[in-house]
Amino acid sequence: MKEQEFQIEHIDPLGQGVSKIGDKILFVRKTLPGETGLAQITKSSKGVHFGYPKNLTTTSEKRIEPDCPHFSECQGCHLLHTDYQSEIEFKAETLKKDLQKMTSLKKETPVNIIAAPNRLGYRTRIQLHYDKAQGKMGFVDPTLNKIIPVPNCKIASPPITEKLKELYQDKNWQKSASAKGHLEIAEAPTGEILITHNRSYSAGGFRQVFPAMNQELIKLIDQQINAISDQSDQELVVWDLFGGSGNLTQNLKKQKIAVADSFIPKHKYGGHQDFYTIDLFADESYEEFQSKLLKNFTKPDILIIDPPRSGFKELANWAKRSKPKWIFYVSCHHATQLRDMAPLIGDYELVDLHLLDFFPSTFHFETLACLKRS
Ligand SMILES: C[S@@+](CC[C@H](N)C(=O)[O-])C[C@H]1O[C@@H](n2cnc3c(N)ncnc32)[C@H](O)[C@@H]1O
Repeated sequence: MKEQEFQIEHIDPLGQGVSKIGDKILFVRKTLPGETGLAQITKSSKGVHFGYPKNLTTTSEKRIEPDCPHFSECQGCHLLHTDYQSEIEFKAETLKKDLQKMTSLKKETPVNIIAAPNRLGYRTRIQLHYDKAQGKMGFVDPTLNKIIPVPNCKIASPPITEKLKELYQDKNWQKSASAKGHLEIAEAPTGEILITHNRSYSAGGFRQVFPAMNQELIKLIDQQINAISDQSDQELVVWDLFGGSGNLTQNLKKQKIAVADSFIPKHKYGGHQDFYTIDLFADESYEEFQSKLLKNFTKPDILIIDPPRSGFKELANWAKRSKPKWIFYVSCHHATQLRDMAPLIGDYELVDLHLLDFFPSTFHFETLACLKRS
């Protein structure tokens, strides 16, 4: 593998330092603007190179000692080499830049930042890959296609961390593992710690991974939707699309709530919500949803959507047909969220944009965009 000198100009949305020396473009993970040094190249494609810092000749004043022994090797966290304030500023800048680039918004929309109460020890579920022949279990480094063992990982909640240590002890994980695959350790709603193999969600359906931040998101949604309801003399209809267990609308009791998802978990929220099982990515899912809905639910006043990372390309079409006065778009991948929101601008005004740090130490974050029909 080759080595190459680097000089970091800025950080890209994946948290990698970007170096341009002459015509050489190099992405160096775990570096900061202003840093220089020598990178070990791990992958090259179409003249663009990727690597990690072998040594640093200039160090940023924002660099700190990472609070995890696996950080330099592991690809689970991306930003522990800098302080939390810098991490959150980087995330806000990424969101603001992409908002201008991907939508036709003329005026700048302020971003309301809700920081995390703790940077580590938060995840209530983690997924690890394993290969018995190699005797390895851990996170995957996609550039090296290699499993990095993480027995002292700091990102999970205390009960998950304890279980992780048990699994690494004497290679206990091998007892229940097949030759190759992945396992998930998750806190179930009952508090039980579940271990499952080769399934997308172990605890019987999707659950947000950072409970304290999930409460912040629910609080924001409650405040805004209840304020809208208070201005109306009617009982408002809310569609909670990609609603899973009904998490986001669990406290909304003044409204009529229809929750739609392809998989409604066993542990779902209250009797005030109506649940509909539906594949929202299927052709004609709008018509199918209409046919399933009770009569007085067929037009929403408020549409909440919280799709997977791929987003919901049909949003503009659904908005055109159902004409909600408000759209609340929750996302863990702002690029697809902005793509889906862009065609709405004009018919809708972006009233509020919140960045909630659901995934500290990584480049990921959650956003809530509130749009009002113009
Ligand atoms: C980011 S989660 C949000 C869940 C929920 N809003 C919450 O806060 O817990 C995305 C949800 O999309 C659902 N989903 C994935 N593919 C789907 C599809 N084709 N049709 C409907 N729902 C789908 C998943 O089951 C999951 O519950």
